[in-house]
Amino acid sequence: MRGKSRFGSGRVAAYHRPMIRRRTFLATTAAALALPRFAHASALPVLRAAPASFRLAPDAYPETQVWSFGGSIPGETLTVPQGARLSRRFENALPQPSTIHWHGIRLPNAMDGVPGVTQPPVEPGGTFDYDFVCPDAGTFWYHSHLKATEQVERGLAGPLIVTEAEAPDVDADHVIVLDDWRLDDKAQIMGGFDNGHDLSHAGRIGNVVTANGRMELELAAAPGQRLRLRLINAANARVFTLALHKMTGWVMATDGMPLAAPRPVDGPLSLAPAQRLDLFVDMDGTEGEEAVLSELIQGEAYAQVVFPLTGTPAATRPEPAPLPPNPHSAPADPGAARSVELRMEGGAMRWLASARHEGVDTDGRELAGMGLFWALNGNAGRPETPLFEAAPGEVIRIDFVNDTGFDHAMHLHGHHFHELAPDGTPGDFRDTTLVHRGGTQSVLMTARTPGDWLLHCHMLGHHQAGMGTWFRVT
Ligand code: C2O
Ligand code: CU
Repeated sequence: MRGKSRFGSGRVAAYHRPMIRRRTFLATTAAALALPRFAHASALPVLRAAPASFRLAPDAYPETQVWSFGGSIPGETLTVPQGARLSRRFENALPQPSTIHWHGIRLPNAMDGVPGVTQPPVEPGGTFDYDFVCPDAGTFWYHSHLKATEQVERGLAGPLIVTEAEAPDVDADHVIVLDDWRLDDKAQIMGGFDNGHDLSHAGRIGNVVTANGRMELELAAAPGQRLRLRLINAANARVFTLALHKMTGWVMATDGMPLAAPRPVDGPLSLAPAQRLDLFVDMDGTEGEEAVLSELIQGEAYAQVVFPLTGTPAATRPEPAPLPPNPHSAPADPGAARSVELRMEGGAMRWLASARHEGVDTDGRELAGMGLFWALNGNAGRPETPLFEAAPGEVIRIDFVNDTGFDHAMHLHGHHFHELAPDGTPGDFRDTTLVHRGGTQSVLMTARTPGDWLLHCHMLGHHQAGMGTWFRVT
């Protein structure tokens, strides 16, 4: 209750400003003086998580009750120039505690938004001030990091765009958040976030797929135009396979980090949970035609974003130049790396016989009873000791060995890494890598910022069900 009354008064100051009349303003000031914590309410812009309703399903259905940042699906787009501060007072108007994780941003550990590790949970009615510099330009996102299997599924995710000092030469820049939802016949989000089948298999896969909250998103373009598409996968577990129709495309950046040379799109694109892709696409069709971004499912293409082509054709451009590199994005020397293995085990079909949980060897059936189905290096759930400790500047190669029957999207907090080809050559610079069932994916990272950082599967049910560990930068 303590938080609630403070919250109530702060809300007046923070939200009703455009409509404030003089009397209200005076009343608010008096209230704010009596409640010092909110006397500073105007210092930071507010980012509020609250229940909302949003039209996800077709018109014949009711609106869907969601949880949202800033009242929209996806959550409010936050835009910051590279090198500037992102400052937000997080107000939690949800019925559950929460935190915000700024996915892919190199920030001080205390701003990372991990409950119980970098900050206490923000209780309903409480606030937390996030304030940090965004050193890398690119496409990032933010999402709840508490009970994420439920909270992200209910809609608590939004884009975080860090703009380059000089905008690249494109006709339009579109943020496209892809997500899926499991809705019932009244278009409401189905419960059962913790059901053992989802947790132990591929995760919670939805029956409604949206781009920016729409089953089919329409974005107008003129023939010949070049667009920047910033794709973000905010789904709990769905790996999108995407195709371009009547467009010539280039991959410009992965997980926010520019490629040294744009890579022509010559086949389907894979986008695992939490991953981002910046594409440049040239509209090849003529007036009256449509360009389409589709999702491929078992060989069928389902339109996700449709670009009706209208207007005066734009002059064709030469192939795009790369986006400017971010600091620290050159790969380290793989020969200088210390290597660490991370073995992934468990899940349906390869059930855990046993694993350590909170330091105790525990039988697999007993773990399943606690909703734990997966292990990393024999630990189900975050262990007491880190996977590794490293000093800033130290180079670590992590070998993700997937001994499970499912694919996993492995994510490091606070650090990007270079994916290594089987011959050891550094490839894309990412913060989330898809490790295929039965396969091994090695990555090369340089420890940067001191603190305790999570490393987990971004299939959110898998993380909840045991696939999480951490590393320490000293
Ligand atoms: Cu988007 Cu712990 O991550
Ligand atoms: Cu997983």
